[in-house]
Amino acid sequence: MATRNICIFTTFISFLLMSSSTALAEDKNYLARGSSISTGDETTTILVSPNGAFTCGFYKVATNAFTFSIWFSWATDKTVAWTANRDAPVNGKGSRLIFQKDGALALLDYNGTVVWSTNTTASGSSRAMLLNSGDLVVMDTDGHHLWRSFNSPTDTLLPMQPMTRNTKLVSASARGLLYSGMYAFYFASNNILTLIYNGPETSSIYWPDPFHLPWETGRSTYNSTRYGILDQTGRFVASDQLEFEASDLGDEIMRRFTLDYDGNLRLYSLNITSGNWSISWMALPQLCKIHGLCGANSLCRYRPELESCSCLEGFEMIDSSDWSKGCRRKTNITPNQDFSFRKLTGTDLWGYDFNYSELYPWWMCRDMCLNNTDCLAFGYRKGTGECYPKVFLFNGRNFPDPYNDIYLRVPKVVSSSPELAAGLIHGCEVTEKEAYPSSQMSVGGNSSFKFGYFISSALTLLVIEVTLIIVGCWIVYKLERRPEIMDEGYVIISSQFRRFSYDELQKATKCFQEELGSGASGAVYKGVLDDGRKVAVKKLNDVMQGEQEFRSELSVIGRIYHMNLVRIWGFCDERTQKLLVSEFVENGSLDKFLFDYQDINPVLQWSQRYNIALGVAKGLAYLHHEWIIHCDVEPENILLDEEFEPKIADFGLVKVLNRGAGAQVLSRVHGTRGYIAPEWALNLPITGKADVYSYGIVLLELVKGVRASSWVIEGEEEVEMSIRSTAEILKDKLVTKDQSWLLEFVDCRLDGEFNYLQAVIMLKIAVSCVEEERSKRPSMSHVLETLLSLVE
Ligand SMILES: *[C@@H]1O[C@H](CO)[C@@H](O)[C@H](O)[C@H]1NC(C)=O
Ligand SMILES: *[C@@H]1O[C@H](CO)[C@@H](O)[C@H](O)[C@H]1NC(C)=O
Ligand SMILES: *[C@@H]1O[C@H](CO)[C@@H](O)[C@H](O)[C@H]1NC(C)=O
Ligand SMILES: *[C@@H]1O[C@H](CO)[C@@H](O)[C@H](O)[C@H]1NC(C)=O
Ligand SMILES: *[C@@H]1O[C@H](CO)[C@@H](O)[C@H](O)[C@H]1NC(C)=O
Ligand SMILES: *[C@@H]1O[C@H](CO)[C@@H](O)[C@H](O)[C@H]1NC(C)=O
Ligand SMILES: *[C@@H]1O[C@H](CO)[C@@H](O)[C@H](O)[C@H]1NC(C)=O
Repeated sequence: MATRNICIFTTFISFLLMSSSTALAEDKNYLARGSSISTGDETTTILVSPNGAFTCGFYKVATNAFTFSIWFSWATDKTVAWTANRDAPVNGKGSRLIFQKDGALALLDYNGTVVWSTNTTASGSSRAMLLNSGDLVVMDTDGHHLWRSFNSPTDTLLPMQPMTRNTKLVSASARGLLYSGMYAFYFASNNILTLIYNGPETSSIYWPDPFHLPWETGRSTYNSTRYGILDQTGRFVASDQLEFEASDLGDEIMRRFTLDYDGNLRLYSLNITSGNWSISWMALPQLCKIHGLCGANSLCRYRPELESCSCLEGFEMIDSSDWSKGCRRKTNITPNQDFSFRKLTGTDLWGYDFNYSELYPWWMCRDMCLNNTDCLAFGYRKGTGECYPKVFLFNGRNFPDPYNDIYLRVPKVVSSSPELAAGLIHGCEVTEKEAYPSSQMSVGGNSSFKFGYFISSALTLLVIEVTLIIVGCWIVYKLERRPEIMDEGYVIISSQFRRFSYDELQKATKCFQEELGSGASGAVYKGVLDDGRKVAVKKLNDVMQGEQEFRSELSVIGRIYHMNLVRIWGFCDERTQKLLVSEFVENGSLDKFLFDYQDINPVLQWSQRYNIALGVAKGLAYLHHEWIIHCDVEPENILLDEEFEPKIADFGLVKVLNRGAGAQVLSRVHGTRGYIAPEWALNLPITGKADVYSYGIVLLELVKGVRASSWVIEGEEEVEMSIRSTAEILKDKLVTKDQSWLLEFVDCRLDGEFNYLQAVIMLKIAVSCVEEERSKRPSMSHVLETLLSLVE
C-alpha cells in the first residue's frame, strides 16, 4: 500500500521536477557525462531518487555558501544525510557540479578549483544516479558502481548503509551546521564500535563506558570483520555484538542514524505527514557522560530532563556562546600560594590522573596533590579509598554516585571575600581539619569513608542542630543547676558516667597520638585510662556545632546501657575543648570485615553473621524501646568486639521521641545513601521504622557480603531503585520451593557453608524491612523475635 502511494507520489514529483527543469539535459533521475550544473541563489535540486525520498543538489548553508549534499526531501528542514564538501562550501556565484568527460563527478568553486571529486574514470554512457536508499552512485556502462556516497558517510548512516572498518561518522560542529565537529564514531583498533571525543587538545573515548571492559558492556573484541548495519526495520547489528532496535520497529519508516553535534548517537524516524523527526534510540541517555560537552574546567550537571554546564569555582566561561570551549581561571595562581581544597560531592572529573592509588587515606591523597605543583584537584572514592590526582580538569560531571568526590585545589583567600564566605556557609570548604580515614584504618580493610565510631557529615551536623536544641536546653538547664559540682574537676554524675579533665585525657591518649579515625565533627583517638580501661576519645573540633552534638550525645547516651550499644564513659568540656570518652571496641567496624575484598581480615563466618544480625536487632529494639531513633544505621556504625559481638555506635543522630517538642519532625535528609529510608526524601515524619529500613539493608549486606550501593542493576542508576528491584526479585524467589538460587546469592566467600533456614529468614526479614510503605515494615522487637526463633 504505502509503497504504491510512494510510487505515485514519486511519479508526481518527478513530473513536477521535469517540467520545471531547465538546467538539465536529462530528467533528474540521472546525470550523464558532460553535464554541468551551476549554483543558483537558493538550494538547487540536481537529482531526485526514483521514490522521491532523497534529493541531492546544492544546499544553501549560508548566504552565498553552498555544499553539494543529499537531503531528505520530505523532512521539513531538509535534513542533510550526506555532504561532499562539508568543510569547504563553495561560492554561490559560478560554482559548478560537473560530470567530467573523463568520468569523474566533481565540484568546482567559482574560480575553477576542484573542491571535491569522485576521481572515477569511465567512458561510454556512464552516469550518476541517486538511488532510493539515498545512495549517490557513479556507474559505468554495465551498471557497475565506480563510486558511491554510502562508502564515505559524513555524520549519518542510512538503512542498509554499512558501517565498515573504513567508515567513520564525524559529528557536525553545532546544531544546524554541517562543518566537521569533534566527535567520531568508528571501529576502534579493538574491533569495537566506539565514540570518541577529538578535542583541540585531548581525545578520549566515552562510549562504550571506558570505565568498563568491553565484555562488561556486552561487546566482543574478537570479531575483526568490523561490520555493522541498520536494516530497514530499525534493527542494528554489528560484528562487535552491538545490537539495538528502534522503539518503533517496523518497515516503511524512513530512518537515519546520526552522530549528532552533541556527541550522542541517535536513531531517528521521520513522520512523513508532519515532516518532523522523532528519536527511536540513543547511545547515551545521559548527556553528561559525553566527553568535552562543557569544555575544560567546568561541570556538567544532571537536572531532570536537561543537562547543563557550569564553570568550576574560580573559573569563567571563555566563549559565552559555546560551552565546548570551556572555562578559564578568573585570576592566575601564583606559585607560592597556600592552597586548600573545595569539596564537590558526587562529582567526577574523568581522566587526566597523574597517579592512581587504592586504599589510600584521604589525607595522603591530599598531600600527594599538594606535593605536586601541577595537581589541580583530586578525586577520592569513599569506601575503596581510590585516589586520583588530576593535572587537567575535564569531563566534569555531577552524577548519581554518592561515593565519588572531587576536591578542587583553590588558593587560600586571606581576606574574607564574599565568595569564600558563601563557600563556608554552604559548608563546602574543606580545611586541613576536616578529617578523613587515617592510614591505619584504611589499611585495615576495604576502607570506608566513614570510619569507626563517630560518623557524620555536614548534613548530619545540620540535622543535629535541629534535633538537639531541645535536648541541649535540657542539659544546659541541668548543668547550670549544679555549677558547684561541675566545677570540681571530675565528678561522678551517675555511676560509671563521669566528667574527665582535659589533662587526664591528654595523658590517657599520650597527647592524642593514635588516631583511630574521624568524621567531620572530630577525630577519634585511642587511649588508656589510669585504671587500665581502653577508651576511644573523640575530640570535637568545631565548637559551634560540636557543642550541640556533644550535649546530645551526653544527654541521650549517658543513661543508656546495653551490651549491643557502645558504652559512653564520660565527657570533658574545659574551655573550648569538648571531648567524649567511650568504650574502645577491639575489632573496629563491620564494614571492614564485610566488604574486605583484599583478604586483610578473616572472612566473617555464617554463625558470626547471624549473631551480628541478632545483636544489632537487640540493640535497636532496646533503643526504640527507649524512644530513641538512631537514624544512621550502617555497617560503619556497627562495631565488633573481640568476640565479634556487635555494638552500635554513634548516637549523634538520635532524636528523642515524645519528649515535649522533641517529637517534632526532622525534615532534612541525612544518613548515607543506600541506607536511608524513603520517608527521609519524602519529608514524612521519621519513626523507628526508618531504622528498620536501614537494618534491612544491613541484613542484605550481611548475607551477600557486598555493599548494597554497588548492586546497581543494569539500567537503574539509583541505589534505591536497585534495592527495590532486588527486594522484588527476592520476594518472588523466597516463595519458591527450589532454593538453589541461595547458593549464588549468599556471599561466595562462605563457600556454601551457611544455614539455609537462617539465610531464608534473614532475607525474608530484610525484604519486609525495606518495604517502601513503612507501616508494612515490622518493628525491631518483632524482627528480634523472629531471629531468636532460629538461634541454634
Ligand atoms: C579559488 O578560490 C579559493 C577560495 O577563495 C582559493 O582558496 C583558491 O586559492 C582559489 N584558486 C585559484 C586557482 O585561484
Ligand atoms: C580524489 O583525489 C584527491 C587527490 O588525490 C583526493 O584529495 C580526494 O580525497 C579524492 N576524492 C575522493 C572522493 O576519494
Ligand atoms: C563476525 O561478524 C560478522 C558480521 O556481523 C558475522 O557475519 C560473522 O559470523 C562473525 N564471525 C564470528 C566468528 O562470529
Ligand atoms: C505524524 O504527525 C502527524 C501530524 O502531527 C500526527 O497526527 C501523527 O500522529 C504523527 N504520526 C506518528 C506516527 O507519530
Ligand atoms: C514539528 O516540529 C516543529 C518544531 O519542533 C513544531 O513546531 C511543529 O509543531 C511540529 N509539527 C508537527 C506537525 O508536529
Ligand atoms: C603514585 O604515587 C606514589 C606515592 O607518591 C608512588 O609511590 C607511585 O609510584 C606513584 N604511582 C605512579 C603510577 O606514578
Ligand atoms: C609530600 O611531601 C612531604 C614533604 O616533602 C612528604 O613528607 C610526604 O611524604 C609527601 N607526601 C606524599 C603523599 O607524597
